[in-house]
Order: sequence, then structure tokens, then C-alpha cells
Amino acid sequence: MKKIDTLDELIATVKKTDNIPTLPKVLSKISEEIDNDNFSIKNIGELMSRDISLSARILRIVNSPFYGFPQRIYSINHAIVLLGSNVLKSIIISTSVFTAMKETMAGLSEHSLFCAFTAKHIAENLRAKKINTIDPDIMFSAGLLHDIGKIIIATAFKDDFKKIIEIAGKSEKPLADIEHDILNISHDQLGYMLIKEWNLPPSIYLPIKYHHNVNLADDFKAEAAILNLADFLTRALGIGFSGASYLEKINGYALSILDIDIDFIKSVIEEIYSFKDELHIFD
Ligand SMILES: [Fe+2]
Ligand SMILES: [Fe+2]
Repeated sequence: MKKIDTLDELIATVKKTDNIPTLPKVLSKISEEIDNDNFSIKNIGELMSRDISLSARILRIVNSPFYGFPQRIYSINHAIVLLGSNVLKSIIISTSVFTAMKETMAGLSEHSLFCAFTAKHIAENLRAKKINTIDPDIMFSAGLLHDIGKIIIATAFKDDFKKIIEIAGKSEKPLADIEHDILNISHDQLGYMLIKEWNLPPSIYLPIKYHHNVNLADDFKAEAAILNLADFLTRALGIGFSGASYLEKINGYALSILDIDIDFIKSVIEEIYSFKDELHIFD
């Protein structure tokens, strides 16, 4: 199979593919409104109420035990205020992308959602311990979108994707390395390109770019470390499916960046594990 030799070649191939996830009309209107500096909650709420499944999903997320707001939220406008524009936009993007994921890669939406909640939870615990002040909502968004590059591979390079998954099933190699062997690029880099294109902030797309190579990150290194750990824990707990069964050792470098130890990780696992039964909120 042909390797992708240049970035231009890659972009050209991706652009030629018809079914790369694009945002449906209502979603892109909402997304445009969010990008507007003085966006109005009322306008977004109105646009959103035209898409009942999206509104229902937003309310399910905001009322899920992961978010844990003390009182029940009934109004979409209230939910928009509580979640903030970045989380809202990530949910909108993943809404359309997860639909594509269901057909191409069963289990990836559960993997992404659990990773999102784990990343958010780690950031909250780090704040509580005054270790750092990383925004938990940014980590939620990064977790939700971190493996979106796999969808690009699955749709733009169908045959290569099949081969990658087949090799990953019997190989002791990280998935990103196998993608590199076959395509010269991996899902972390592709995801970064896509998320940047969709105008999300660097605090979301840079950790995505480095979630398998925390040591290479420059800005937002701690965010990349959280994302790496959240992804690792999701796979270690066997939640959803990320494309490969191989599990590397926990990333000691990421632990040292965040100044946490295995006991911290153990308590995170105890706190998040029961949430595995809540992953239907994206259905
Ligand atoms: Fe990944
Ligand atoms: Fe992942």
C-alpha cells in the first residue's frame, strides 16, 4: 500500500474523500455562532432546539453523574451557560463524528467518552490538591476528540485502516506506530490537524497532537500528560475499543510532569470505574 509522503499529498487525499465527517447544517450554524466573539446564548439555544437529539444529549451530559451538578438542569440555555463554549463545540463535533464512529469502529465512542470524563476528573483532582490549575472542561473536550484522527484514517484510507486494525490485533506495538509504518502519519497528528481546522483553541489541539508523545510537547505539556494518562487508564480498564489490544506500561514521564504517583492514579480509578455504566449518554 502506498505511503503518504508529503503533507500536501495527505491533505489532497483527505479532501478528495466524500465522507470525512462534516458538520451537519444546524451544527455548523451553532458552531459559527459560538466562534462569534459576542455570541448569544439565546441564539445558540434557539438553533439547538431545532436538533432534538443534540439538545437531549447536552442535557444528558450535564445531568450525568460525571458532571455532578447539584440540581437537575432542565433548560438547554442553562446547560449552555454551565458547559461553556468549548465543551459545547466539542460535543457538537463529536455528535456528528460519533455517528460515523459507530459504523467504522464500534467502541470508539465509549473509549472517547470515558477518556473525556477521566481527563476531566484528573484535572479536578489536581486542582483540589493545588498541584495545578488546568481547566477540567478543556480536558473533557480534548478527551472527547483525542482519537478523532482514527475516523479520518477509517474513512479516507479504508484499506489501510483494515490492515492497521488487523496488524494491531496480533502485534505488540502501539497503534500509532503501526499507523506510521503504513501511512507515515498517525491519528494523533491527523486529529490535531482536523481540530485546528474546526477553530478549537490550542489548549485542546496541542494535547491531542502529543497524547502519545508527551515528551515532545512544548506548550500545554501538562494537558498532554493528563490526556495520555486518561487514554491509558481507559484502555487498561478495558472500556470501549480504541483499535488495539496492546497495552504499554503507564507513562512514568507523564506522572512526573504532573507530580503525581501511583496512589493518585489508584484513587482516580476507584472514583471513575463505576461511571463505565453511564456511557450510553451519547446514544
Ligand atoms: Fe490515541
Ligand atoms: Fe485513545
